Amino acid sequence: MTFDQTWLDREVDGRSRASLAARELEYRTVPADSDAFEGWLHAVARGFQDGESSPEQLAAARRRNAARRLTGVYDAGGALPAVAVGTVASWPSELTVPGGAVPAGAISAVTVAQTHRRRGIARALLEGELRTIAAAGCPVAMLTVTESTLYGRYGFAAAADAATLDIDTRRVRWSGPRPEGRVDFVDRTAARDLVVALHERVRRHTPGDIALPPGHDDRFTGTDSDAKDGGDVRCVRYCDVAGEVRGILTYRISAHEGDIVHGTAKVSVLLAETDDAYAALWRFVLELDLVSHVHAELRATDEPVLWMIGDWRAASVSVSDHQYLRILDVPAALGARTYGAAGRLFLRVTDPLALADGDFVLDVDGDGEATVTRTATRTDASDAIVLELSIVELSALYLGGVSVVALARAGRVSASDAAACARVLGSPVTPRLGIWY
Ligand SMILES: CC(C)(COP(=O)(O)OP(=O)(O)OC[C@H]1O[C@@H](n2cnc3c(N)ncnc32)[C@H](O)[C@@H]1OP(=O)(O)O)[C@@H](O)C(=O)NCCC(=O)NCCS
Repeated sequence: MTFDQTWLDREVDGRSRASLAARELEYRTVPADSDAFEGWLHAVARGFQDGESSPEQLAAARRRNAARRLTGVYDAGGALPAVAVGTVASWPSELTVPGGAVPAGAISAVTVAQTHRRRGIARALLEGELRTIAAAGCPVAMLTVTESTLYGRYGFAAAADAATLDIDTRRVRWSGPRPEGRVDFVDRTAARDLVVALHERVRRHTPGDIALPPGHDDRFTGTDSDAKDGGDVRCVRYCDVAGEVRGILTYRISAHEGDIVHGTAKVSVLLAETDDAYAALWRFVLELDLVSHVHAELRATDEPVLWMIGDWRAASVSVSDHQYLRILDVPAALGARTYGAAGRLFLRVTDPLALADGDFVLDVDGDGEATVTRTATRTDASDAIVLELSIVELSALYLGGVSVVALARAGRVSASDAAACARVLGSPVTPRLGIWY
């Protein structure tokens, strides 16, 4: 999806503006090149427990936020009226789904000042942003979260989990492929360009992944002007035997204070376009000298590398919720993906915000392609499997990351045949998102 200038120009949502105005709070957009940006950024930094920005950091943040819609809530009666008491950012993006992609509105920078908490400001901001994203024609909204308990009330659900791998490299006996291409160090500027190019190609194969957000280009290589300790980042690329770059790895090493052979390599990013690149880059990082521990976050929950290290217990894996989705338009969202088996589902969907509720029929043909129609009556689909659920569970199921069987057993959905639903909604690729945004 190309950048949409109208996204930046959209007015704040009228209903949320009115509800905030009734509390003598002003809700408005904040262009990144305006004087108001500094107070907006200050509020975001304070909300996420960061310090004040230096002039250099402010300039870098302006650049990073130039292609995002920023909104703030202001309290003219406070001691710092130029500093927002509520913030949010959004931008148009694209989400990979099984068999394709869908336009999605990304949301970030949700904060409310401690002095104004628990008065409904975040609710006004989230509801306003969801209505705005729906009006912009995005069938899905998405975000990553600080706390799992925040967003279900607005219809979001975790749709892709993330695994943290901690690997004791002293126990690793490499049993994976040994590709014939070559691994070379590259400088950080070249690595940044490779990360951007490879991410754009690799993301299209993994449900849950998204277009690299505006301003993320330098995130893995420490190349931005305000980066802390950027010089610690090491970068290597993998080229196949034809000389094509197929993968990039960036990492930092922290030395062990007591014993130099026990360093830790922390993977910033490992992007591989081919299985060879994947194997070669993992092998490289797992065989680093003076390193006995490799730490990698935001990996898939079924990483192939776990089958390449010769000792399952060399790796400890912890899993947590990561990519949150919120379907805003059921026919458009469900029609954008492919399905695991042919079948006919009657979906009765409820929605706490009444944005996407209704009855729908999902018809999947033998190729896994779907037709989705809103239906007035259940008799339209008397031969269908019935699945009753809220938009939260439908969003959780969207990428195939959880089975209807599990949600039915948890009492979260009601299905006339949960196993058949699971076959239809299933997807062969475990969803994953490799970044925070
Ligand atoms: C999380 C945060 C934005 C909430 O802002 P807020 O204005 O106090 O939230 P609201 O008053 O609008 O609350 C809306 C709802 O969320 C609930 N809620 C708010 N914070 C919550 C929390 N930390 N855990 C669970 N529920 C929470 C409220 O009880 C309320 O529930 P209800 O409307 O269903 O009754 C704010 O506490 C904050 O800025 N935290 C630090 C930064 C952060 O973590 N941001 C989220 C980034 S993903």
